[in-house]
Amino acid sequence: MSSEALQAWWHWAQAIIPAPERESGLRELKQFLSAFTQLSPLDITLRRFPPQIHLKLPLAELQERWQRRWQERVPLQYLIGVAHWHDLALFVTPSVLIPRPETEELLEVVAATVPPWQQQGHWLDLGTGSGAIAIGLARLFAAVLVHAVDCSPEAFEVAQMNIQKYALGDRVRCYVGSWFDPLTHLQGQVQGIVSNPPYIPTSLVATLQPEVQYHEPPLALDGGADGLQAIRQIVATAPDYLQPQGWLFIELMATQGEAVAALTMATQAYERVEIRRDLSGHDRFLVAQRV
Ligand SMILES: C[S@@+](CC[C@H](N)C(=O)[O-])C[C@H]1O[C@@H](n2cnc3c(N)ncnc32)[C@H](O)[C@@H]1O
Repeated sequence: MSSEALQAWWHWAQAIIPAPERESGLRELKQFLSAFTQLSPLDITLRRFPPQIHLKLPLAELQERWQRRWQERVPLQYLIGVAHWHDLALFVTPSVLIPRPETEELLEVVAATVPPWQQQGHWLDLGTGSGAIAIGLARLFAAVLVHAVDCSPEAFEVAQMNIQKYALGDRVRCYVGSWFDPLTHLQGQVQGIVSNPPYIPTSLVATLQPEVQYHEPPLALDGGADGLQAIRQIVATAPDYLQPQGWLFIELMATQGEAVAALTMATQAYERVEIRRDLSGHDRFLVAQRV
């Protein structure tokens, strides 16, 4: 494609960004164009276009995808097939949740909490989606073997691709199944469990922004009537899998801190139960240590 044709496309593409979203939309447009050309977002900002630009997709396809961003509110990450999370560029499809910044913080909480002697052995990522937590954990603790589970076979495929991308095939094992079901061979042997389960109450799913409610997988969002269905199940079963003093880290919704602390303490299986806040000051993470 010629530089002139790209300029013309750029004008069309920026004109269809809704006015209230112009600033963020322009940022997204740079990422979008950069994903399908050899141009960096900086090249695009400076309009530093070489005479000929190689497009990785036909122009008509590019045009259609960019229209879907605004007409159907498809998230940018699904249109370009990549989500930047932590220091990773993860392959994503609409079968997996787009990994969120709060979940980067979850990994930071894990890093700041677990003493060196427990940074080894078997660790679990329950509800792995794109594989973000599992890959993050394996890169954080060099001596762990991570077992990543998801009940969605499509998510399993995406996680596998990301695990291969980061050459972690020998340190992250992936399973299809519900929570602990594929892991019975690990009972009593696990050093730590990390999970970002679905935790949005069913009635709130329809109030989420269109990008989320219409395009992200319901299985990744809907946590049942009170949002705690998955959390309850994980908290109740984790003690069967954890070694004494093993760790449980779960991401939750800002309003769930008290309820999650209460249901965790009620099991009497944990000696330490804390709710930690995220950077915005909201209750966000359960940290519990098995007796
Ligand atoms: C909120 S998403 C988290 C994805 C990823 N860990 C992340 O943080 O980006 C929850 C994940 O749990 C999975 N999931 C839902 N119910 C499950 C179940 N019963 N067993 C295993 N995984 C489940 C969904 O398919 C989804 O991938």
